[in-house]
Amino acid sequence: MTDKNIQLLNTKKGIEALLRQKQFNISKTLNTIKYEKRLEKLQEEMLILQQWVAKNNKKVIILFEGRDAAGKGGAIRRVIQHLPPRAIRVVALPKPNETEMGQWYFQRYIKRLPNEGEIVFFDRSWYNRAVVEPVNGFCTPAEYETFMNQVNDFEKMIQDSGIYLLKLYFSITKSEQERRFKDIVSTPTKKWKYSDVDRRAISLWDEYTKYKEVMFEKTQVAAPWKIIKANRKTNARINAFEYILKSIPYETKNVKNIKHQTIKIVLKD
Ligand code: ADP
Ligand code: AMP
Ligand code: MLT
Repeated sequence: MTDKNIQLLNTKKGIEALLRQKQFNISKTLNTIKYEKRLEKLQEEMLILQQWVAKNNKKVIILFEGRDAAGKGGAIRRVIQHLPPRAIRVVALPKPNETEMGQWYFQRYIKRLPNEGEIVFFDRSWYNRAVVEPVNGFCTPAEYETFMNQVNDFEKMIQDSGIYLLKLYFSITKSEQERRFKDIVSTPTKKWKYSDVDRRAISLWDEYTKYKEVMFEKTQVAAPWKIIKANRKTNARINAFEYILKSIPYETKNVKNIKHQTIKIVLKD
């Protein structure tokens, strides 16, 4: 369903125009409507969560991990869409510079931790050193080992300082990653995303898998991983959203907004 067609859904005239289209697909349209409605409810509820964080001086980290093109960035965009910009931050760090290379690995992430009243979204995170870095030779085996020995304690200290830490992993299949890379390189507005790391991702698929499995096995001591099946972007976003809203214990929670509601659409002939 194209953005233009989604626009058409807003008016009766638009819907009539849509129905006249030859290639009109009713089940696809209904699914789009359901997704949009559901997303809207979840975004409404996210604002309630954010207001609770702000009023009560809470601190929250929501961390997104996953292979290249898994849809982390797009999911974050939907979650933050209607939040006040000053109350949240999205952290997507580039590769470390010379100064940072000489620092303790966690140092540049510590600078970005949430202040009171803030929610910080990490689009990739310190977990670069658990997967991307060793797979691509960006760190030494010794640096990797040191990281793996420190990360659980690091996260425990984060939590002990009063920060809620959620960790989401967006999981896609190899063929889906391949398909998305093809789409990315052939779309003018997405081309910029295609990096040298992406270029190597398919041939290094099994290496990524190996390190990912060790990560899941060793790094759930302080905070668990929530694995989100992400081959379908819309489902992934909804599932990620529901997990976030269920996991943070804000008293103002409106369970009705989070619960899956059946949207009944009755068609008469
Ligand atoms: P993204 O997934 O954010 O689009 P890339 O695919 O280019 O970015 O790279 C994946 C991750 O690897 C990024 O977090 C990037 O900062 C990191 N990275 C890239 N090159 C290096 C490097 N030489 N050393 C350490 N980290 C790197
Ligand atoms: P990843 O966790 O990104 O390394 O995904 C690797 C493997 O997880 C795939 O090769 C599949 O076996 C499985 N997987 C991930 N996402 C899905 C999905 N949406 N549906 C089915 N299997 C999946
Ligand atoms: C992703 O996982 O998709 C990245 O965050 C950004 C992208 O390639 O769309």
